[in-house]
Amino acid sequence: MRDFEDYRELSDEACQELINAARKQLGSRAVLLCHHYQRADVYQHADLTGDSLKLSRLASQTDAEYIVFCGVHFMAEVADMMTKPNQTAILPDLAAGCSMADMANLTKVERCWRELTAALGEDPANQVTPITYINSAADLKAFCGDRGGIVCTSSNAPVILDWALVRRPKILFFPDQHLGRWTGHQRGIPLDEMVVWDPDQPRGGLTQEQIRNAKILLWKGHCSVHQMFQPSHIAAFRAKHPEGKVISHPECSFEVCAASDYIGSTEYIVKIIKEAPAGTRWLVGTELNLVERLAREVAPEGKIVQFMSPTVCMCSTMQRIDPQHLAWTLENLVDGNVVNAIRVPEKETASARLAMERMLEVS
Ligand code: 13P
Ligand code: SF4
Repeated sequence: MRDFEDYRELSDEACQELINAARKQLGSRAVLLCHHYQRADVYQHADLTGDSLKLSRLASQTDAEYIVFCGVHFMAEVADMMTKPNQTAILPDLAAGCSMADMANLTKVERCWRELTAALGEDPANQVTPITYINSAADLKAFCGDRGGIVCTSSNAPVILDWALVRRPKILFFPDQHLGRWTGHQRGIPLDEMVVWDPDQPRGGLTQEQIRNAKILLWKGHCSVHQMFQPSHIAAFRAKHPEGKVISHPECSFEVCAASDYIGSTEYIVKIIKEAPAGTRWLVGTELNLVERLAREVAPEGKIVQFMSPTVCMCSTMQRIDPQHLAWTLENLVDGNVVNAIRVPEKETASARLAMERMLEVS
């Protein structure tokens, strides 16, 4: 087994050569799936790219023996759950997690469920469907699968909400309060019928009456990258460029989403700007690697793409997948050594797949 320490000090250029050579040797045995936030020096090696929904579909469609996932941990878990047992999902650096996904865990969600059941009783008029954003651990997807719940992504959240609301009157949405709130708002649910469940407070910090009156209980979680974007950034842009358009990811705050012209997943953001007329100007509220790449790609058409925040907002965990880790992973595969395989336990997979398949069917 090759030791990562031998790669740590290698230059990016040296790693690029090793990656290219290893990929040649592996051929179609390995496929590289890359999320849009991946850094340029890794993204250039991608076979397939996309947002979370697209990547989960792509993972389920590939026949490759190894799915090398350049993304974060929950994405590699999804790839493992959506592929066959003889395929292996690999995350080149196990430390590439998602800080938002870590804001909910099974112990806290089970306690929340018990407290909600105690507050709402058995009355069918008060029953709750759990919806987990795909940015969550596999055991939370399994929790939803076992309770008639479902998974959603940033690109299908509205239809998933519709699916849930025809089944039961209430929703527990975790872990991203912002995606839950914006989606509820899109579906006409008043803001005062969406309350925040604070998992660190007894009974979520809510009264029994607040729980009973709520349509959606929003887990108190957020993305540390998207919380950096502010309505004042949009106001400053509009004052300077009244003809410019603003596009944001739904993990941004409600105020940022409300002040934007377009809201959608990373794939949607890329598509809208690529299809926009030449010469247009855009302010984009999502991660910096995506925005910088897009700006470079559309510059020849005279389109100007600006990042929303004056400070650097990268997904620091996704950034951990670097050329050094990728070279180490691929060279090990060439030698027949699988490093950093992501394997979700079988029982968890069965329940989580149920919630994922419900989602894929609806969207
Ligand atoms: P997308 O599904 O839109 O790519 O979002 C994933 C994500 O983690 C955004 O922060
Ligand atoms: Fe998670 Fe935020 Fe990174 Fe997306 S940008 S993977 S939500 S930490």
